Amino acid sequence: MRMYDLIIKKRDGGAHTPEEIKYIVEGYTKGDIPDYQMSAWLMTVYYKGMNNEETVELTKAMAASGDMLDLSAIEGVKVDKHSTGGVGDKTTFIVAPILASLGVPMAKMSGRGLGHTGGTIDKLESIEGFNVSIPTGEFIDNVNNIKLSLVGQTGNLAPADKKIYALRDVTATVDSLPLIASSIMSKKLAAGADVIVLDVKCGTGAFMKTPEEAKTLARTMVDIGNMAGRKTYGVITDMNEPLGCKVGNALEVEEAVEVLSIKDIDKALSEASDVNYGIRRLIKVSLCLASYMLMGAGVTSSYDEAYAMCKKAIESGNALDKMAQFVEAQGGNKEYIYDTNLLPKAKHIVPVYMEKEGYLTSCKNSEVGMVSLILGGGRATKESEIDLAVGVNVRKHLGEFVSKDEVFAYIHANSDDIIEEAKKRLLGAYIVSDEPCQIEEVVKFVVE
Ligand code: URA
Repeated sequence: MRMYDLIIKKRDGGAHTPEEIKYIVEGYTKGDIPDYQMSAWLMTVYYKGMNNEETVELTKAMAASGDMLDLSAIEGVKVDKHSTGGVGDKTTFIVAPILASLGVPMAKMSGRGLGHTGGTIDKLESIEGFNVSIPTGEFIDNVNNIKLSLVGQTGNLAPADKKIYALRDVTATVDSLPLIASSIMSKKLAAGADVIVLDVKCGTGAFMKTPEEAKTLARTMVDIGNMAGRKTYGVITDMNEPLGCKVGNALEVEEAVEVLSIKDIDKALSEASDVNYGIRRLIKVSLCLASYMLMGAGVTSSYDEAYAMCKKAIESGNALDKMAQFVEAQGGNKEYIYDTNLLPKAKHIVPVYMEKEGYLTSCKNSEVGMVSLILGGGRATKESEIDLAVGVNVRKHLGEFVSKDEVFAYIHANSDDIIEEAKKRLLGAYIVSDEPCQIEEVVKFVVE
């Protein structure tokens, strides 16, 4: 087999056989296929696409290029969730303890943040003592004992994807649907879960800008998961503004604990409640994801029943206790869960007001993420140190009216010379109009 012939085949619209895909992935990972040929091939895929079978084979080959986590020592159906990334997305800290408190095992690998989106692993490190790199044996034991463990991704998970992604990044071939879908799913398949629930974000803070694009990506990823023998669901959710109110590492842990501490979810979700609208959006996404995970695990086939169980896990305090147990099992101080005042706090908490009153009609969400990043809460490069205490707390959300004398947001900063720039960028991210706009549903649809 020659790479030259395979480039011609794809260039002319042909479909690759499984052997050909394997040859390309293995050859490139080993260094036998040079960057210039791989770049040419990626560009042919960008233009000619791939059919479902090719995409599944590409995913499987990339998954098999490194460690494939063996979770067979864990009893029960193992569930996992993956978010395609967004601003203020702390659903893992709500969903994981809900599932574990209901007896469903969750053995999760997560990443660190890069760019305007935060990383689950960084957020957990705002809890004193929490260890994100426990040995595999302990990881498995913890899942068997308390049903939940969460660690950082090992260096050797889908190395082919790592190498191909770096090449895509510099050859303008990132935004190709089969390449994105196979990249995400290769890591999920290697991570070993039986059930995968994908939270596919759409909007100004997400990779996919429209619900239709997100739906097509979800459909492809769900098909890949199912064809690879994993029960997979895709939940398409809104990312046109931060999820919840708080953006920043410790702030997001604090907000997740706030949700896990709610005693009456229906009341919290009702229009009349004084629970912030942003938190209501967070509750809706979290409960939807958790319900599909419960259904995927085979606990029930009814969404309504699954939803009621997840709701009760929060209201009873069981999910909060599970979160504390999980923190303790990984060396963290569980008191941080019962008293979030212990979490790292910024020196300055500065209120921000809108310059004109009106309805919030649009938000450039990636800019809100950038505000957290310039305050020190995110990484500009992989090596950057991050400040766990800083971030933004947005009190008003799209569709709401904001007057000039009510606090629109708080900036949490540790250095006062960045505050003015952060304020300016935050205000610049929003459009305020005289006319109200339609409020978007936060959960759009589910692909099964
Ligand atoms: N996230 C990934 O892991 N891969 C992509 O290609 C895009 C987003």
